[in-house]
Amino acid sequence: MRPRCARILTLCASVVVSQAIRSPVIIIPGFASSALEARINPQTASAALKTECPQLVGSQWVQIWNGNQTKACQALVFRLDVDPASGRYANTTGVEVRPLDFGGLRGIDSDGGDPEKGFWAPMVNQLRGAGYVVGQNIFGAPYDWRLAPEDGLGQVHWFADLRALIERAVASAGGMPATLVGHSMGTQISHYFLAIATTAPWRAQYVSGFFGLGPVLGGAVTALSLVLPGIIPGLTQLPLSPGDLWNAQQTWPAGPSLAPRAFAFQSRVVAEVSTNYTASDLERMLLDLGQTLPAALYRRVHQFSPTPFPALDVRVACVYGMGLPTPELVIHNPVAAAMAADATAAAPAPYMAPLAAPAPSMRRKLQAIGAPAPAPAQAPFSAAATAFFASKWSQAFGDGDGVVNLVSLRTCERLLPEAILRRPKVTHNGIVSDPDALQLLLRFAANCALPAPAPAPSPATQFTSV
Ligand SMILES: *[C@@H]1O[C@H](CO)[C@@H](O)[C@H](O)[C@H]1NC(C)=O
Ligand SMILES: *[C@@H]1O[C@H](CO)[C@@H](O)[C@H](O)[C@H]1NC(C)=O
Ligand SMILES: *[C@@H]1O[C@H](CO)[C@@H](O)[C@H](O)[C@H]1NC(C)=O
Repeated sequence: MRPRCARILTLCASVVVSQAIRSPVIIIPGFASSALEARINPQTASAALKTECPQLVGSQWVQIWNGNQTKACQALVFRLDVDPASGRYANTTGVEVRPLDFGGLRGIDSDGGDPEKGFWAPMVNQLRGAGYVVGQNIFGAPYDWRLAPEDGLGQVHWFADLRALIERAVASAGGMPATLVGHSMGTQISHYFLAIATTAPWRAQYVSGFFGLGPVLGGAVTALSLVLPGIIPGLTQLPLSPGDLWNAQQTWPAGPSLAPRAFAFQSRVVAEVSTNYTASDLERMLLDLGQTLPAALYRRVHQFSPTPFPALDVRVACVYGMGLPTPELVIHNPVAAAMAADATAAAPAPYMAPLAAPAPSMRRKLQAIGAPAPAPAQAPFSAAATAFFASKWSQAFGDGDGVVNLVSLRTCERLLPEAILRRPKVTHNGIVSDPDALQLLLRFAANCALPAPAPAPSPATQFTSV
C-alpha cells in the first residue's frame, strides 16, 4: 500500500499533502473526553434517577457530561450494573448511555461542542489545511469511557463499530489504509484494538499506522484516584473530580485498566504507614481498604490484559511531553494516619458499620487535621477506607507529562516506533495541539520520510515531594 519512494519525495515536498498518499485519520480521545448522551426510561428507572436527572427522562437522547447535570445526577446515571460472576456490564436500570456522534467530530470533545473551537481544533485545522476533509478522511471514534479495552468495550460491540468505521473511512479515501490517532486512554484502546481485536490480514488492508499522543500504555499513578474512594489532593489532574462520583466510579473497569502496570512500574506506587504497595499489589491494597468491587474489577481487567506486552505490525509514532512533575508515589502521612486511627477508635460504634454520615465528633476531628470529610450516604465507605482517606496525603513527583509517568509514556517505545517525538515541558493535554506533533502527524499519515528518533534522555531527577 505504500507509494514508491521516488513518488513520496515529490508528493511529500508539497505543503498540501497529495490526495494520492493521504491516509484517513481516525481520532480516539482520552479518558472522560468523549461526549456521551443518555436517556431515562420513566417506566423502569428508579425514583431517585427521575428526581435527580429530570432533563434526561423520555425518549430523546440528551448530552451528558457537559456540565448540565448535577453531581447527584451524574453519580446515579453513570453507575454500571456489574455482575462480577458473569462479568457482564450493563447500564444502570432504566438508563441508556452511548457515545455521541460516533464517526463525526462532535463526540471527541467532552463538551460536544463546535469541532472548530474545541480540544482537537488545532489538529483538525492543520489536517484541513493540508487538504483533508472532515467526514471524508477525518473521523472521530468516541467511546463509553467507563469501560475498558480489556473488559467492557467488546461487550458493547465498540470494536466492531470501530472496524466498520475504519472500513468506511478507507473506502471513502480510495483504499488508503487508515492512521489511528489516539490520545491518552485512546492510545491504550488503539493498542488493544490493533494487538487483540483485529486480525493481521484485516490490519494489512485497513490500518497503516498508530500515532500515539501522551501514550499511557503502562498506566499512570494519577489513575489511582479512579479506584480509591476519596479525594486525594493533587491527584486531580484527571477531568473528573475523584470521590464525588464514587457511587458510579467504583463500577467502572476503566480505573483498574488505567492503574499503574507492574511491567512498567518497578518501584512502589503507594506508601502506607506500615506497607508499601507496588503496581503488583494493587488488588491487595483495594482489599485491604475493603473495596471489594474495585478489587474484583481490577482482577478481571488484569486477567484479560495480554502478557507479555504485545508488539504491533503497523507503523507506530510515540509523541509525548516530559520534564514536568508527575505524581509517582502516593504517600499516606503517618502522623495524620495515627490521628485518624485515634479518631476512629473514639467514634461511636455505628461509625464502624457502612457509613451513612460521619458522626459530629468525627467531623470535628477531621476538620482539625484539615481532611475532607467523607462523603455522606452515597458511598458505603468501609471503616478502613474512611480512616485511610480521612487523613493526610502527600505525593512524590517524578518525570512525566504532568499526568502520565515517563516510564509509562516510554512503554510506547517497546513498539519499535518509526518516530519518537519528546517535547520538553509540554503537558499531557498540550501535546495534542503541539506544533511539532502536528507537523509530524502530517508526514506520518502521508507515509513521508520521518526524522530518526533521538536517543532517549535520562529522566529528570526526583522532583520535590509536597
Ligand atoms: C444545557 O441545558 C439547557 C437547558 O435544557 C440547554 O438549552 C443547553 O443547550 C444545554 N447545554 C448543553 C451544552 O448541552
Ligand atoms: C448502554 O446503553 C446503550 C444504548 O442503549 C447501549 O448501546 C450500550 O450497550 C449500553 N451499555 C452497557 C454497558 O450495557
Ligand atoms: C517502603 O519502601 C521504602 C523505600 O524503599 C523503605 O524505606 C521503607 O522502609 C518501606 N516501608 C515498609 C513499611 O516496608
